Amino acid sequence: MTFEPAAPTIIRRPERIADETWLIHQVQEALGAPLRVYLNSMVIRGPEPVIIDTGTVANRAQWLEDVFGLVEPKDVRYVFISHDDVDHTGNLAQVMEQCPNATLLASWALVERFSNAFEFPLERCRWVDDGSHLDLADRRLHFVRPPLWDSPTTRGVFDPATKVYWAVDAFAAPCSTEVEESVDQLDPEAWRTGMATFARHAVAPWLSLVDGARYRDNVEGVRALGATTIASAHSPLISGAMIEPAFDLLADLPNVTVPAAPDQSVLDAIIADTAGGE
Ligand SMILES: [Fe+2]
Ligand SMILES: [Fe+2]
Repeated sequence: MTFEPAAPTIIRRPERIADETWLIHQVQEALGAPLRVYLNSMVIRGPEPVIIDTGTVANRAQWLEDVFGLVEPKDVRYVFISHDDVDHTGNLAQVMEQCPNATLLASWALVERFSNAFEFPLERCRWVDDGSHLDLADRRLHFVRPPLWDSPTTRGVFDPATKVYWAVDAFAAPCSTEVEESVDQLDPEAWRTGMATFARHAVAPWLSLVDGARYRDNVEGVRALGATTIASAHSPLISGAMIEPAFDLLADLPNVTVPAAPDQSVLDAIIADTAGGE
């Protein structure tokens, strides 16, 4: 028996979401439920192309084809890693090897935490803090931590030129087996419940501990950026008229009661289902 991750069977090609801005998609089947989950990353082209997160090991071949179909490896100027999770760092080594002119944008904490898995070329690194920015030839990127996160290293990216906000794990919500492209295609109740369940069980269980008013202030600070497109790693695209309801859902998360996380009985049922299907 080997433990190599299975390559995805659902393929969605890169999606242009704004001028020179592309979402790179991966779609994963949810465990024990007829749901699908996006594992997105992003590319900003232009005179100084930026890769934002590097996908997963499972999707390596497709991810490299998708990204380098949009930008030549030698042209990549920056690689931004939002945080040290496997669904965001899966092809970091491949990118740094194939893109000799790329500077790695990450936080001090990320380098500290992830050095056990990756030999950081420190002379090619630039540390980015929450609230800092980076000037490119044609735009200024702002690094803004999303309102909820699952690692202290997390930074989001706001591009005022396109008003796209890379929200990392915030706004995460599953979609149906139809793999909806936009949250306005989701059943509204499924969106609300899905976002709350992901947030409370898979990204930010600390939501149950926070002061609701202070948390809401933080959400409103990110809302005030004025993004017109929110690209989340784990949600269908959020844009236009769906921006405000998405922030409303996010702001209300500490007040939402969610079902218990799947327990051993659910795992037993999944295993029984799998055995029955063989
Ligand atoms: Fe994460
Ligand atoms: Fe993630």
